[in-house]
Amino acid sequence: MNEKDRILYLRKTLHEHNYKYYVLNQPDISDQEFDFLMHELQDLEARHPELYDANSPTLRVGSDLNQNFTQVAHKYPMLSLANTYNEQDVADWYDSVRRGLDGEDFEVCCEMKYDGLSISLTYVDGKLVRGVTRGDGVHGDDVTANVRTIRCIPLVLKEGSGYPHEFEIRGEILMPWKVFERLNAEREAAEEPLFANPRNAASGTLKSQNSRLVASRQLDSYLYYLLGDTLPSDGHYENLQTAASWGFKISQGMKKVKTLQEIYDYINYWDTERKNLPVATDGIVLKVNSLRQQRSLGYTAKSPRWAIAYKFKAERACTRLNEVSYQVGRTGAVTPVANMDAVQLAGTVVKRATLNNEDFIRNFDLHIGDYVYVEKGGEIIPKIVGVDIDRRPEDAQPVKFIDKCPECGTPLVRYEGEAAHYCPNDTGCPPQIKGRIEHFIARRAMNIDSLGPETVDEYYRRGLVHNIADLYTIKVQDINGSGNRERSARKIVDGIAASKQVPFERVVFALGIRFVGETSARLLARHFKTMDALQNASMQQLMEVEGVGEVIAKSVIAYFHNPVNQDIVERLRSYGLQMQLSEEQITGASDKLAGKSIVISGVFAKHSRDEYKALIEQHGGKNVGSISGKTSFILAGDNMGPSKLQKAEKLGIPLVNEDDFLDMIEGDVVADTENEAAAEDVAAPIQEEKPRADANGQLSLF
Ligand code: IVH
Repeated sequence: MNEKDRILYLRKTLHEHNYKYYVLNQPDISDQEFDFLMHELQDLEARHPELYDANSPTLRVGSDLNQNFTQVAHKYPMLSLANTYNEQDVADWYDSVRRGLDGEDFEVCCEMKYDGLSISLTYVDGKLVRGVTRGDGVHGDDVTANVRTIRCIPLVLKEGSGYPHEFEIRGEILMPWKVFERLNAEREAAEEPLFANPRNAASGTLKSQNSRLVASRQLDSYLYYLLGDTLPSDGHYENLQTAASWGFKISQGMKKVKTLQEIYDYINYWDTERKNLPVATDGIVLKVNSLRQQRSLGYTAKSPRWAIAYKFKAERACTRLNEVSYQVGRTGAVTPVANMDAVQLAGTVVKRATLNNEDFIRNFDLHIGDYVYVEKGGEIIPKIVGVDIDRRPEDAQPVKFIDKCPECGTPLVRYEGEAAHYCPNDTGCPPQIKGRIEHFIARRAMNIDSLGPETVDEYYRRGLVHNIADLYTIKVQDINGSGNRERSARKIVDGIAASKQVPFERVVFALGIRFVGETSARLLARHFKTMDALQNASMQQLMEVEGVGEVIAKSVIAYFHNPVNQDIVERLRSYGLQMQLSEEQITGASDKLAGKSIVISGVFAKHSRDEYKALIEQHGGKNVGSISGKTSFILAGDNMGPSKLQKAEKLGIPLVNEDDFLDMIEGDVVADTENEAAAEDVAAPIQEEKPRADANGQLSLF
């Protein structure tokens, strides 16, 4: 056999062994033998770069190359399922199907509802060509390089197994419980923030820019939906069984049934049995089995009429409350945390739960030593849902909320109408200072992506930065302590310097003034035009800005009143940050949309339709009423009508959401259009803080 044939042979053999190991769970060679063959292939491929194949099993290890995901339009939109929570809802759905089919007999396929993130895989001539995330259902991120590292996803299908020339298969990417627990244990040891649940961990992983990291995270996948012009049969169940014979790992425990009683039996069985599954599930999916009947039932605007999800009830455990500790967040909000005896709950060990605020503690009349009921909600963040008063020890003491900040000792305040206590020492309290810097560098603020939260933490500890202005004084030699990190140090310093070009309205947002989110920052900047004017604005002037109420106005005044902040703003000015709107923004005109025909559709959060019309015109574009081949793009809000969606899809017209549109006309930000949990290492904005998973899908509390 020549080397080329040997390469082809080894690729085929290794694909087969992969399948036996990761899909069937039945390896028939040892790990050592597998590695041996893999090494041989790696060596041969290194000698024959001309035989490169993106689907080679050697490439499952991923690469460190940074990949910016491209957005891809889904051939068929990725819809979600309507949820039901009880037997009556299921019965109502079953009846609606029967009526929809005019009394015709039908079968229902019951299967697990996996709690991961959905993925759409395209195969052409038996080869994986693309893997795309759900995104907004119409467009998703092309994460093919990452998907290729997931061992149970076949790169090449079994030869001669009869797969169609081209098809799409959808399913869920998951992080198995075991991997999740190990990962979090490692993160805890390294004092890194923990992932709140396997779904967030899988999502953060799949959207990582580093496919080698993805490869190391041992993701799993189950596929549950086959799409294409030529499918093997009219039955969903049958199609998936056939897909299994091509090499896919399909949904476990699929079962075809006819009656409602059989559906209930299936639900009841899996409600308990799912605890033995290696991955997270949160319900059952019921699908009308016949594709012909599916087509005849059709879709509502959001979901198919032929399928429904039944969500399991949250699991509950009872355990002892030992202590209440307090966490100070980036905005100074103080969150009480219950520390309890460890208890097993819905797949993980739970030791802590959020207590939200003082009222929450008071409502439950919590005492130290109480036995409390803990549940995981949809987010799997444990919360206390009740107390077993009968088990309260006689001498138990009520929980008393603290009155001083546990980080800096400042007396806490509770603002009128707010449930949370705050530490008001926003310029001197360590977590607040670090939080403010993290907010400042975030993508939507100053976009200093050469720095991350860990680096900020390190610089703060080393005394390099005490506030946001200090960032601009950092020198390469300050960072480059050991002398061998010059390149990365230079990158950091350059990244900080580049942020001096970030437009004024994002500078206003980046300051982290409490209650001033992205939208209010934009409104304030547009209204006052310069930092000077904003700094000197009176309460009345501030409240004249549309969308700015008393709370925001007061907060702006308080911010600029504080001498520490005044000093910071002055320093930022002296370092050359943008302290006023650009000429273009003042006149409001540009030619950024010149020659573009734009259709506006749907409902928007940041501006009215009329405002968007005006913006399009100000920037040289043309607003048109209906979609045609000449439409450049659709400015798409929520709830865009299905017929418009279809037409856009058919003509291949891109959809642009409002954030991306605003970025397009305003500047240089890379828009984050993904609506599932964002990739790792992106700082979450300061305004969003709550004791829950942040935009990174990570939970800072636990
Ligand atoms: S079928 C048009 N089957 O649940 C229906 N979805 O809310 C396509 N999911 O986005 C989905 N397990 O991520 C289907 N066995 C299963 C599923 C499943 C989990 C997820 C999927 C989808 C969401 C629907």
